[in-house]
Amino acid sequence: MWIRSSFLGPLALVALANALPQPETDLVRGALAAVSCASTFASGKYPTWQQLPIQTTLPDPFLPLSKTTTDSGNSASDIMSGKAAGRIASKEEWIQCRQPEILNMLQEYQYGYYPDHSQETVKATRSGTTVSIEVTAGGKTGKFRATVALPGGASTSAKVPVVINIGGMQNQPYLQAGIAVVGFDYTSVAADSNSKTGAFWDIYKGRDIGVLTAWGWGFHRTLDALNMTVPEIDPTKVGVTGCSRLGKGALAAGLFDTRITLTMPMSSGVQGVGPYRYHAMSGQDETLENSKSGAGWWSDSTLGTFVNHAENLPYDAHTIAAALAPRALIIDQGQGDQFTNSKATAIVVYPAAKAVYDWLGAGDQIGMGIRSGGHCDMSGFTNILPFVQKILQGKNTTRDYNNLSPWAAMPTTYPWATNIPKA
Ligand SMILES: *[C@@H]1O[C@H](CO)[C@@H](O)[C@H](O)[C@H]1NC(C)=O
Ligand SMILES: *[C@@H]1O[C@H](CO)[C@@H](O)[C@H](O)[C@H]1NC(C)=O
Repeated sequence: MWIRSSFLGPLALVALANALPQPETDLVRGALAAVSCASTFASGKYPTWQQLPIQTTLPDPFLPLSKTTTDSGNSASDIMSGKAAGRIASKEEWIQCRQPEILNMLQEYQYGYYPDHSQETVKATRSGTTVSIEVTAGGKTGKFRATVALPGGASTSAKVPVVINIGGMQNQPYLQAGIAVVGFDYTSVAADSNSKTGAFWDIYKGRDIGVLTAWGWGFHRTLDALNMTVPEIDPTKVGVTGCSRLGKGALAAGLFDTRITLTMPMSSGVQGVGPYRYHAMSGQDETLENSKSGAGWWSDSTLGTFVNHAENLPYDAHTIAAALAPRALIIDQGQGDQFTNSKATAIVVYPAAKAVYDWLGAGDQIGMGIRSGGHCDMSGFTNILPFVQKILQGKNTTRDYNNLSPWAAMPTTYPWATNIPKA
């Protein structure tokens, strides 16, 4: 893994200390030039909303956080337009500096820090279609179960890809396509409430971590268990999905575990791939404010300090999506979704994230699946299936997942994209 190489700067060491998943990718494996990273912030010492400028457009993903603060010497207008000093200039800097910084920053401001997996012991046993999972850390144990559905023909010598989902999905088209579907009861990992009950909290109660992160952890430990007990599944071809709040959780899962091949957030909205800015383009007006007051437990407490100051956030949903690159991302949204902001996800967030994917040479790894219908319609799963088959099974599709019809991309919302780093 490149992370063990000797040229690592202080930032990468901070990332290691936090036991973050490392962005080990095909893009960089064995081919990285040494770079030095901009200084970054220790946990608990990040800029407050008052120390960050108001940005009315989507923040520049190429600008390190230390160059974004109000005392950075950069003006707010330069920061927003991609003209600020200190932007990263190369893909090496993205992979070694900026991507780890984004993953740290998102844990600080929004998710809470994932527990250190190297301190966990995972045990799994399988009985038929049920896998029982037991995780122990610091003398505490949490237990939950996953249910496995295998397609016909799956065997140890004919392994199949898997989609891990929470909250239910349309299994049959996936099984017919030769993809296993595994689910777990998300409430048994972490209740969707402030109660701090479930396997995750049995181990980590007291930590300032959001429930989306706890659900993400449930996906990760399910994958550990599948790898141990279900040899019919290929653990290197893995999708994660869920809808609405559970889509937010699937995004948190995909973001923080590089074993996950494809992240599939469905109708996910704010704290998913719906933006904090441009929140009123379609659907009910889901915002930082009403998501935090309605379900404050989804995120850590730091996100609450940005309530009424969402435009001071130094990131938005496109930053989250871009941090997945070059791993694959397919987004499902219904045009008639009455809750989440499908339109802004499609024409603001998606093209802004794709600008980073394209720059990294991974433009074919991100897709936007716009469909008719509403929030969490089961048809969303067939809507994205051709893209899933492309990524997990190497199949071709004629569907154009860059087609934003009936809408069109809105480049004025991500002005920095006219100034993409050259290298
Ligand atoms: C599966 O387990 C093996 C043995 O512990 C490990 O080497 C491998 O990295 C695991 N794969 C995944 C995808 O977790
Ligand atoms: C997909 O299409 C490309 C271009 O038409 C072709 O070269 C490739 O062999 C096809 N792959 C599969 C798996 O059908």
